[in-house]
Amino acid sequence: MHILSSSATTTFNKSSIMAPALVPFLIIFLNFPVIISTYHTPHLCTDENSLLLIQFRQSFKFNKGASYMCKELDKPSYPKTKSWNRSTDCCMWDGVTCDEVSGEIIGLDLSCSQLQGSINSNSTIFHLSHLQSLDLAHNDFMSSPVHSNFAGFRRLAHLNLSDSVFSGSAPLELSYMLNLVTLDLSLNENITVEPQVFELLLQNLTHLRELSLEACGVNSKLPRNLSASVEILNLASNGLFGDFPGEIFQLPKLQVISLSANRLSGRLLKVNQNISSALHILDLSYNNFSGGELHESVGNLKSFNFLVLKDCNFSGPIPESFGNLTELEGMYLSGNSFTGHLPPSIGNLEQLAVLLLYYNRLEGQLPDSLSNLKSLTNLDIRSNLFNGYFPSTIFNLTKLEHLDFSDNSLKGPLPPNITGLPNLSYLDLSYNSINGTIPS
Ligand SMILES: *[C@@H]1O[C@H](CO)[C@@H](O)[C@H](O)[C@H]1NC(C)=O
Ligand SMILES: *[C@@H]1O[C@H](CO)[C@@H](O)[C@H](O)[C@H]1NC(C)=O
Ligand SMILES: *[C@@H]1O[C@H](CO)[C@@H](O)[C@H](O)[C@H]1NC(C)=O
Ligand SMILES: *[C@@H]1O[C@H](CO)[C@@H](O)[C@H](O)[C@H]1NC(C)=O
Ligand SMILES: *[C@@H]1O[C@H](CO)[C@@H](O)[C@H](O)[C@H]1NC(C)=O
Ligand SMILES: *[C@@H]1O[C@H](CO)[C@@H](O)[C@H](O)[C@H]1NC(C)=O
Ligand SMILES: *[C@@H]1O[C@H](CO)[C@@H](O)[C@H](O)[C@H]1NC(C)=O
Ligand SMILES: *[C@@H]1O[C@H](CO)[C@@H](O)[C@H](O)[C@H]1NC(C)=O
Ligand SMILES: *[C@@H]1O[C@H](CO)[C@@H](O)[C@H](O)[C@H]1NC(C)=O
Ligand SMILES: *[C@@H]1O[C@H](CO)[C@@H](O)[C@H](O)[C@H]1NC(C)=O
Ligand SMILES: *[C@@H]1O[C@H](CO)[C@@H](O)[C@H](O)[C@H]1NC(C)=O
Ligand SMILES: *[C@@H]1O[C@H](CO)[C@@H](O)[C@H](O)[C@H]1NC(C)=O
Repeated sequence: MHILSSSATTTFNKSSIMAPALVPFLIIFLNFPVIISTYHTPHLCTDENSLLLIQFRQSFKFNKGASYMCKELDKPSYPKTKSWNRSTDCCMWDGVTCDEVSGEIIGLDLSCSQLQGSINSNSTIFHLSHLQSLDLAHNDFMSSPVHSNFAGFRRLAHLNLSDSVFSGSAPLELSYMLNLVTLDLSLNENITVEPQVFELLLQNLTHLRELSLEACGVNSKLPRNLSASVEILNLASNGLFGDFPGEIFQLPKLQVISLSANRLSGRLLKVNQNISSALHILDLSYNNFSGGELHESVGNLKSFNFLVLKDCNFSGPIPESFGNLTELEGMYLSGNSFTGHLPPSIGNLEQLAVLLLYYNRLEGQLPDSLSNLKSLTNLDIRSNLFNGYFPSTIFNLTKLEHLDFSDNSLKGPLPPNITGLPNLSYLDLSYNSINGTIPS
């Protein structure tokens, strides 16, 4: 699952390739001014480059199934390279971007192109040495290795090999690609990223803004110091183990971290005061903080919009300081062993739309302050030990769509104004001691 959205935009620095290309242009300008008028529709692409692309195309057949995931992601899937025709300028071909001046191919986007076949180390693609952006996501390269040749693209800023059936160890050479801004190797079932390579990717790529190694067979500890340029880090579904390093919260530009479905542990999740104010999404769900607790200092995560701590094996109380996280829109604490009362400070979270507390051991009365959560659309507290009277003020939260109070020990009458929730589509109050009549 990609919970992360790419925020990186492609900005190419043309100055380095512009200078030599200007020379022939100027000569034409000085000697044959008449030609200038036809220069508006230049044939930019060199024969050599169009041949390289056609040869690359020839190493694949088309198979719709190779890009099946695109449909789920609402991305158009079609055989882009089919329309490539050597009688036209390759700079106009679908998926190809050229430098306007030099005519060199600087971008190739063949994501969702239904390509099936292997990429050998002698593939002609590796001759496109001016590439700054290469996107091969969502194809089927039939367990081709990630050749170290990919690291030969010295100017490459964006490399996307997501969900393309690559396999084998990610080469160390990737960590030499110092211009990389985004790197996505995610969702290649049989890729592995060895600990040493993992560490170097995180530490040596000093321009890296987005790294996605979701489901890439990383079995390693998470290093404490990462490149300060990192903004989005998706390391979900790997075998990361050891303590969650709190230093990560201090990375100055980090916005989003997903570490779900790993084997991280730790006694206490502490957050020191120097956390980066850029951070707004943390997903630690499906880890094993067995016996671990949340420290009162989670109240320092003030800039957070989403805190996803589902199925983490946390125990102990939900800290009162949660009430300080006033930017929170989603709080996912389900499937842990939290005990004690739900702190009344929760009522401060006026932006909160989703509050999931199901499968814990929370007890006592639900705080009246819940009725302050005017943005709530989804409230699920099923399977806890909440008791006391059914909180009728819940029915003031008119945005509610999904309400599940089942399997608690709530008692008392069903309030008559239960019908006052215009958007409600799911209501479960079963396994409580609620009485009264259900309005017709
Ligand atoms: C390429 O374009 C030429 C001229 O427009 C056309 O005659 C030819 O059929 C095209 N070839 C393919 C493979 O589409
Ligand atoms: C590229 O290498 C593969 C095997 O690695 C081989 O089968 C193929 O003939 C080579 N192609 C060229 C053009 O050399
Ligand atoms: C890689 O491509 C996929 C599919 O287009 C996209 O969802 C993902 O965000 C891209 N990764 C990066 C780092 O841009
Ligand atoms: C991954 O490797 C396993 C074992 O070699 C194989 O059965 C499976 O088909 C491979 N998966 C892909 C997507 O190639
Ligand atoms: C990260 O820490 C390790 C060990 O503490 C050190 O060897 C390495 O140089 C550090 N890297 C960076 C980028 O700070
Ligand atoms: C990684 O960066 C460190 C510090 O900049 C450097 O000493 C080391 O040689 C680099 N390692 C590799 C494999 O590039
Ligand atoms: C927090 O940051 C301040 C100023 O940036 C610095 O003086 C202080 O030592 C830092 N504290 C910790 C615990 O890192
Ligand atoms: C979780 O951690 C505990 C203690 O470290 C261990 O006993 C247990 O087997 C782990 N559970 C899983 C599912 O890994
Ligand atoms: C929460 O906010 C209150 C009031 O601003 C402050 O006194 C308290 O220290 C904060 N707690 C944490 C853990 O940030
Ligand atoms: C619903 O009823 C309860 C108690 O009867 C009352 O406190 C609350 O204000 C009512 N809400 C609405 C929206 O009428
Ligand atoms: C709930 O709504 C009713 C009617 O709009 C209002 O009178 C009452 O004060 C509200 N209660 C709370 C706790 O907001
Ligand atoms: C509902 O149960 C409460 C005790 O929990 C009782 O006082 C009340 O009379 C009951 N109301 C109805 C309508 O049965």
